Amino acid sequence: MAVAGTTEANFMHWGSRLTFILAATGSAVGLGNIWKFPYMAGENGGGAFVLMYLAFVALLGAPMLMNETMIGRAMRKSPIGALQSLTEQYNISKYWRSIAWMGSLSGVLVMAFYSVIAGWSLDYIVKMATGVFNGANAEFVGNQFGGELLANPGNMLFWHFLFTVLTVAIVAGGVVKGLERSLRFLMPLLFVLLLIMVAYSLATGDVEAGMRFLFTFRPEDITSASVLAALGQAVFTLSLGCVSMMVYGSYMAPGQDLGKTAVAVAALDTMVAILAGIAIFPIVFANGLEPGQGPGLVFISLPLAFANMPGGQFLGTLFFVLIAAAAVSSSISLIEPTVARLVESTKLGRAKATAAVGMFTWVLGIGCVLSFNEWSGYTVADKNFFDILDYATANVLMPLGCMMIALLIGWGLPKHFAREQLSEMSPTMFSLWRMMTRYVVPVGVGAIFLFNLF
Ligand code: PHE
Ligand code: NA
Repeated sequence: MAVAGTTEANFMHWGSRLTFILAATGSAVGLGNIWKFPYMAGENGGGAFVLMYLAFVALLGAPMLMNETMIGRAMRKSPIGALQSLTEQYNISKYWRSIAWMGSLSGVLVMAFYSVIAGWSLDYIVKMATGVFNGANAEFVGNQFGGELLANPGNMLFWHFLFTVLTVAIVAGGVVKGLERSLRFLMPLLFVLLLIMVAYSLATGDVEAGMRFLFTFRPEDITSASVLAALGQAVFTLSLGCVSMMVYGSYMAPGQDLGKTAVAVAALDTMVAILAGIAIFPIVFANGLEPGQGPGLVFISLPLAFANMPGGQFLGTLFFVLIAAAAVSSSISLIEPTVARLVESTKLGRAKATAAVGMFTWVLGIGCVLSFNEWSGYTVADKNFFDILDYATANVLMPLGCMMIALLIGWGLPKHFAREQLSEMSPTMFSLWRMMTRYVVPVGVGAIFLFNLF
């Protein structure tokens, strides 16, 4: 493998285009698809939210995937280092560097709550494997979540710690090496299991009600808040605006078709989210569960399905293992920008740098754990600590990051910078990409922010 232009031996190329797609999909597909998408759709009325989310993935998601990746690939440094070189090389304002600082910080903030939720899935591996849910009804499954899980901060802290250690161990070993092997079979397996769940849900759930909820467009569900939520979901699920894709792009070999790659990643991620929705909502309606109940939705509806399906104990265990694996492959990319910068600019070394970042996110995560129990009463504008971290990242910092990256590439840098990176693109597609990047993304995000302020 080629060692790119840096002193860091871990800075190697992904083996091939397929490996980059796998890695980027590994970052994209995670809790955002299986945990967050269903409950966000549930809270925001279903069909209208799903439609807006799909529109944002196509209009903003795909071009922004290209934009983030191309900066990383062009500069071959950590995002903070990349922006620094970029502003020097093209002699543009050094304030553009804030993109990388803000993005690296958002990743770390997301990690604080991401690792808590991923910890839930670790807990559910054990619950599933030991047959706790066998033959259970909706009330029992609901109590396992609300009573057993959320009410026990000590237990949650343990799983949250374990998940953080898992992520730190992989990142400390070097992302490229750690990921290539495992993703090759874990991602396809997750996909297959999701298909099994969809089949079960379609066979036994309330398909009519589920589909109506997910795909019926009710214009009254479009509010400034739900538009922002859909934008936030699109950005979150594609790992955008927090320079994760930038850092992965820095490991990408030159000469690969960025446009097609980005579209493939966006399509795969969207497919997983929609499949998760179809696996969940028919079950939700068949069992009288509340679609708008929030973060517990998946942890209640799916165990209920596994509880009553043949082979459910085994399949359920496997499913939560795969969710945890998908979460690890995302969490890696959440802290990698900060770790890469520390490795680049300090004498810490990769292991210590990763441990330091992990320690920080773990401590912050304690606040999230407590926001589900002891601290649930401490709220600002009706939001507890977890809600605030979630909102500040997905609905504010990450879309803002996208907007600034679009402005940088569309207006700050000369046109030939992007044209060289998107050399495989036809002139028509390039014009389309350029229009999205210069106008649609910045104006769209800006307008949505404004409508939410006033
Ligand atoms: N996209 C990931 C998911 O859907 C979460 C994530 C966000 C990962 C931002 C990296 C950066 O689960
Ligand atoms: Na995702």
